[in-house]
Amino acid sequence: MNIDRAAVKAAVKDTVTVIGLGSMGSALTAALLDRGHPTTVWNRSPHKAGPLVERGARLASSPAEAVAASALTVVCVLDYESLYAVLDPADGSLAGKVLVNLTSGSPQQAHEAVVWTRSHGAEYLDGAIMTTPPGVGSAEMMFLYSGSEAVFTAHRQTLAALGDPLYLGADPALASLYDAALLGLMWSTMTGWLHGTALVTAEKTEATAFTPVAVRWLTAVAGFLTTYAPQVDAGHYPGDDATIDVQLAAVDHLIHAAESRGIDNSLPELLKSAMSRATAAGHGADSYASVIEVLRNPAGAAG
Ligand SMILES: NC(=O)c1ccc[n+]([C@@H]2O[C@H](COP(=O)([O-])OP(=O)(O)OC[C@H]3O[C@@H](n4cnc5c(N)ncnc54)[C@H](OP(=O)(O)O)[C@@H]3O)[C@@H](O)[C@H]2O)c1
Repeated sequence: MNIDRAAVKAAVKDTVTVIGLGSMGSALTAALLDRGHPTTVWNRSPHKAGPLVERGARLASSPAEAVAASALTVVCVLDYESLYAVLDPADGSLAGKVLVNLTSGSPQQAHEAVVWTRSHGAEYLDGAIMTTPPGVGSAEMMFLYSGSEAVFTAHRQTLAALGDPLYLGADPALASLYDAALLGLMWSTMTGWLHGTALVTAEKTEATAFTPVAVRWLTAVAGFLTTYAPQVDAGHYPGDDATIDVQLAAVDHLIHAAESRGIDNSLPELLKSAMSRATAAGHGADSYASVIEVLRNPAGAAG
């Protein structure tokens, strides 16, 4: 009888440990269990493991026992302070293991975590989760990783159980840097949508009527970003589509319409200020991408 060893290996899923069973850690564990990974878990408050144990997870009695149970440990706790509070007492179990840290933090904290992990003989991969718990396990959702490419490649298939794994590069800080940048983009976009929604709902249009139009507009906006990225890389901003001067005139219409309906205008005033400073710095006839010069050098643009 012929045995397809590759198929057998693919069918036997790697064992994984998950430390931290808050909303996100529980979702990560559920996704691993759903895809057949034998999963060991640990959480400061052990009762949160209950539903996962019912689905087949094994509850370790200590962080050290949890780390010892698998070659790969995924950590997802509140912050880095919590991470060290949990892992410091388990540092004797770390030698030869891989730690994938999905706890949100700063680029500096990612660098420090590499040094800490290596000092205990383990490998480290930093990660950022670009979804909320209900999106975990979907191939549509991005999980960003940075650090050792060899570690990422070795565990890529297992990490794909959580979402689409995107490797950003060897610098471990990249995942948290992208995370911060993308959250900024999300908050700006959501607040812009809410400001626009406040404007149209002041005239009895419902948010549910405005939003499909807004979402379609975002597709066009995504196209603008793709057009402007090479301009930013080149440091050259041809204003052949829409100039800053033209957009400065348009932002006044938004400010006036919102003001006359009693809506907070902090966001459009901020945008107008950036555009005005770009114009003052000589970019009036350039594209909107030239605003990056003001963002990169606020003191220079002001002077
Ligand atoms: N929720 C999201 O949508 C989302 C999205 C992307 C990234 N994240 C990131 O994922 C991480 C976890 O978020 P979450 O939503 O799962 O938060 P959460 O539901 O509040 O869970 C926090 C987890 O951290 C543990 N923890 C907190 N302080 C601790 C300490 N001093 N010692 C040991 N364990 C401690 C908690 O343990 P107990 O159960 O014992 O309290 C729990 O397991 C955060 O870094 C967050 O930024 C979350």
